[in-house]
Amino acid sequence: MKLVIFAAIVALSVNLGNALDPHEHNKVVCYWNSTSFERLGAGKFKLDDLKPALEVCTHLVYGFAGIEAGTFKAISLHPSIDTGAGFGFYKQVTQLKRTYPAIKFYLSIGGNDDPYEETHKYLTLLESKDARNEFIKSVSIMLNEYDFDGVDLAWQFPPVKYAKKRNAFVSFWHKIKKTFGYGNFHDEKEEEHKTGFTNLVRDLKGQLRTKNKDLTITVLPHVNATVYYDIRLLQPNIDAVHLMTFDQKNPERNPDEADYPAPIYESYGRTLQDNIDFNVRYWLEHGTPGGKIVIGVPSFARTWKLTEDSQISGVPPIVADGPGAAGPHTAIPGLLSYAEVCARLTESAVGGRVKRVNDPSKKYGGYAYQSYNKDTSAEGMWIGFEDPETAGNKASYAKAKGLGGVAIFDLSTDDFRGNCNGDKFPIVKAAKYKL
Ligand SMILES: *[C@@H]1O[C@H](CO)[C@@H](O)[C@H](O)[C@H]1NC(C)=O
Ligand SMILES: *[C@@H]1O[C@H](CO)[C@@H](O)[C@H](O)[C@H]1NC(C)=O
Repeated sequence: MKLVIFAAIVALSVNLGNALDPHEHNKVVCYWNSTSFERLGAGKFKLDDLKPALEVCTHLVYGFAGIEAGTFKAISLHPSIDTGAGFGFYKQVTQLKRTYPAIKFYLSIGGNDDPYEETHKYLTLLESKDARNEFIKSVSIMLNEYDFDGVDLAWQFPPVKYAKKRNAFVSFWHKIKKTFGYGNFHDEKEEEHKTGFTNLVRDLKGQLRTKNKDLTITVLPHVNATVYYDIRLLQPNIDAVHLMTFDQKNPERNPDEADYPAPIYESYGRTLQDNIDFNVRYWLEHGTPGGKIVIGVPSFARTWKLTEDSQISGVPPIVADGPGAAGPHTAIPGLLSYAEVCARLTESAVGGRVKRVNDPSKKYGGYAYQSYNKDTSAEGMWIGFEDPETAGNKASYAKAKGLGGVAIFDLSTDDFRGNCNGDKFPIVKAAKYKL
């Protein structure tokens, strides 16, 4: 009898647990790259700039903390910003709870902010119980000290190799980079790391549960979920999984071919896995409740340089030659913020007009391009971008599939000043209104 009552109480509290998630199907998870504070001019993102977004976001994910090699402790990767005397953003951000009590503030660990060369830390940590315990202890301390509501593990598992080869044209330099660079690490202990991660999540959640704190995981682009995520065993111990199914094509991995960076569905002739729908179905089929699956929506665009070898139609996939030139505010080659994109789409844009192609199918996303100029030999650019409409399409997809919502990556590359149409954070807002 006692057992029956106990089972009933457990069942009830599990149900309550779900019922108590006020955002089971309308999560607007907002990642914030706090290092964007270091950008210059109009790209500089200050703490106050967060406020208009917090009117809309349900979760704020502070990116990113890392791991200390050797001790396996979670640490700030940017102490001068995160914890330093001058700024101390960790504390200042969680103090915003006073103004925005409904928002959960998470600290995220990894996120490719730890250098790629240090991926091994993320693997060796998983190999020993002692190392995992050190990490867990340090996370608990950090969350308490800075008053975060939970932790997000954006674990830096090795990315899969990019295999496809469509164009014959590949420069010598690109071949060299492919041999030694990103995506060529071969993990010989995949099974061990998968089990280690499952155990880490179980034990960490065990600790956090008693303190009423959340645990979410972020699957980074190009990490093979089949290899590292034991979905059935992870599922009960996570509050959500954020699927970063963008950057499917990006100018570092695919320098010689520009293509849709974040399609919802597979497009003709592309790899089956490189889209949102494939990944969502995979997590659903392996027993994750829809409400725990959150799809990543990039606010940044990916850009490639177009040359005289590029097809003039602009239709992707299109021959390209590495990352497009950096934008004036973000200053990162191959990437433009939404504010930088919309500045180029206007008639009066510096450097001539960029032709915009919308996506009436709502499946692949929009793009814009400016062809190579034969007369002046000026390079062209292909831009695969997200705008309020395509972000809204992704949110509609999440809603139609009964998912948990969307995760915007990140606030600093949305139009946080409202330069495009006068409204701040148009991508975050458009996504929210479709949920
Ligand atoms: C965050 O912004 C900084 C400064 O622009 C940049 O160097 C870094 O790559 C960004 N990190 C992520 C994960 O987007
Ligand atoms: C992911 O790993 C599985 C199992 O090893 C493999 O069958 C699949 O092809 C991999 N996917 C990619 C995109 O590499």
